[in-house]
Amino acid sequence: MTLLFRQAKPEDATRIADLHTRSWRTAYRGLLPDAYLDGPLLQERQAYWATTLPKAQDDDFVLLAEAGDRLAGFIAVWCNETSKTSDPYGNYPGLFVDNLHIDPEGRGKGLGRQLLLKTLEHAQSLPDLRPSLWLWVMAKNARALGFYQALGGAITETITEPFGGILVETHRMIWADLAALRAACQR
Ligand SMILES: CC(C)(COP(=O)(O)OP(=O)(O)OC[C@H]1O[C@@H](n2cnc3c(N)ncnc32)[C@H](O)[C@@H]1OP(=O)(O)O)[C@@H](O)C(=O)NCCC(=O)NCCS
Repeated sequence: MTLLFRQAKPEDATRIADLHTRSWRTAYRGLLPDAYLDGPLLQERQAYWATTLPKAQDDDFVLLAEAGDRLAGFIAVWCNETSKTSDPYGNYPGLFVDNLHIDPEGRGKGLGRQLLLKTLEHAQSLPDLRPSLWLWVMAKNARALGFYQALGGAITETITEPFGGILVETHRMIWADLAALRAACQR
């Protein structure tokens, strides 16, 4: 089915929260405690997206990939310095990818790459050009780590932070050359 890409609106909060929850419950199984993943995560994600989407400002954006009325994936990118400070470690210039999630049934089919490419295309229409793209990825999230490294991402820092009731090792990954990332996404 053809995919349609568009920016999220505040009324998309429930659908994003649903996919976000299913993605965490599968991708983070074994990495975060079952009690956290099987707890009231959906309600927590719903509250998060219901407050976060209306707060997105200026050049922040959340892109959705839709297959008919089904949400196939989404990416959230914070460009605005104020938005980034919602991440206590977020003070780094560039496009900050806060979330990239593909429907668990549609992973490994190229959509992650496509969403990153759409992100780079959208970023070119913003008033300020961004020098780089970066994100945090759990060290034990082997699939995502492999995906990012295959696209040329470099680990520049490793921190330990609280997540889901435990401490997790998390890498900061950076793409300093956006043209190279773009080429890797198109391969
Ligand atoms: C990580 C994620 C976003 C990747 O998206 P995806 O659509 O599954 O990945 P793609 O199909 O676009 O992969 C593109 C390329 O990455 C590479 N790749 C993917 N996974 C890889 C891995 N584990 N190891 C090495 N290379 C990998 C492959 O080269 C692949 O290219 P190919 O199709 O030619 O083989 C997706 O799997 C996902 O949503 N995971 C769960 C949520 C998550 O962990 N998000 C990231 C949080 S930081």
